Amino acid sequence: MSKKVLLATEKPFAKVAVDGISKIFEKASYELIRLEKYTDKADLLKAVENADAMIIRSDKADADVIAASKALKIIVRAGAGYDNIDLKAATEKGICAQNTPGQNSNAVAELAIGFMLYMARNRFTEGNGSELKGKKLGIHAYGNVGRLVANIAKGFGMEICAFDPFVDKAIMQAEGVKVFDSIEELYSQCDYISLHIPANDKTKKSINYDLMSKMKKGAALINTARKEVICEEGLKKIMIEREDLKYATDIAPDCHAEIVEKLGNRYHATKKKMGAETSEANINAGLAAANQIVNFFEKGDKTFQVNK
Ligand code: 3PG
Repeated sequence: MSKKVLLATEKPFAKVAVDGISKIFEKASYELIRLEKYTDKADLLKAVENADAMIIRSDKADADVIAASKALKIIVRAGAGYDNIDLKAATEKGICAQNTPGQNSNAVAELAIGFMLYMARNRFTEGNGSELKGKKLGIHAYGNVGRLVANIAKGFGMEICAFDPFVDKAIMQAEGVKVFDSIEELYSQCDYISLHIPANDKTKKSINYDLMSKMKKGAALINTARKEVICEEGLKKIMIEREDLKYATDIAPDCHAEIVEKLGNRYHATKKKMGAETSEANINAGLAAANQIVNFFEKGDKTFQVNK
C-alpha cells in the first residue's frame, strides 16, 4: 500500500518547493496530503491520523499530535531547530524524528546580516547611523548558520569573534575567527552579538539580565535563533536601563507590546518568523525532507534522526 505523507505547514512553502516535493513523492508512488495555513490545531490532529510520514516547519508536533497519529513512522522538520517536536513522545511511539540541517542556513544568515545593517542605520530612518566595517561581531554558537554569518560579515570588513564550546577551537581559528573561552567575554567585547543557539532545556532563558548587562556600550543583540532563549524580564530591564543597547529579533517576544514604543529605533521584531522565508531555503529544506522520507522507507536511512 502506498505511503501517505502529510505536509503540514501553517506557514506554507513557496509553490516551487511544493511542486518539487510533489514530484519526489509522485516518483516514489507516495500520496501527498497538504495541510497549509491551518489555524486550528484540530485540523492537524485530524490530518495526521492516517499519515505514515509528516513534514513540518515550525508547526508543533506535540504529544497530542503524536497521540492522534495511528500510522506515523517519521516526522521531518524541514529546517534546523526541532524544539517544536516532542521527542520523548515520538521516541515512545517508535517514530523517527529528523531535521534537515544546513538546508535553510544561508537564508537565516543573510537575515542576521540584514538585521545588523538595519539596526546600524536606525531602521532606515533619519539620523546618523554607523557602519559594520571594523566592528566586532560576536557569533554565539558557530554552527551552520553562525559560520555563514561569519563568512558574509568578513566581506563587510568586520572582525569575527565566536564562542562555541562544542566546536573545535582550532577549526574556528583556522577560519580566521577569534575564539573566546567565556561567553561573558564575548558579550563584553563585541559590537554585535549574533545568536545561533538552539532552544532546549539548557538554553531557554539563558540570555539573561546578567549576560546582557555585560554588553559593550552601543552594542546590538541580533536574534535569528529562538525567542525562547531570551529571558524576557531581563531583556525589558536591561533595554530600559541601558539606552545605548539595541535588539533585533526574528519573531516578536511575548513582551513586544510592552517594549515596542519605549524602545523606538533601538528595537525591531518580525511579526512572523522569516529567517527561512526564501524560495531557495524552502526548496533546499523541503526537497531534503521529502528525500529523507523516501530514503527512510525505501532504504532504512536514518542519517538525520535527532531522537537517537
Ligand atoms: C529553522 O529552525 O530551521 C528555522 O527557524 C526556520 O523555521 P521555519 O521553517 O518555521 O521558517
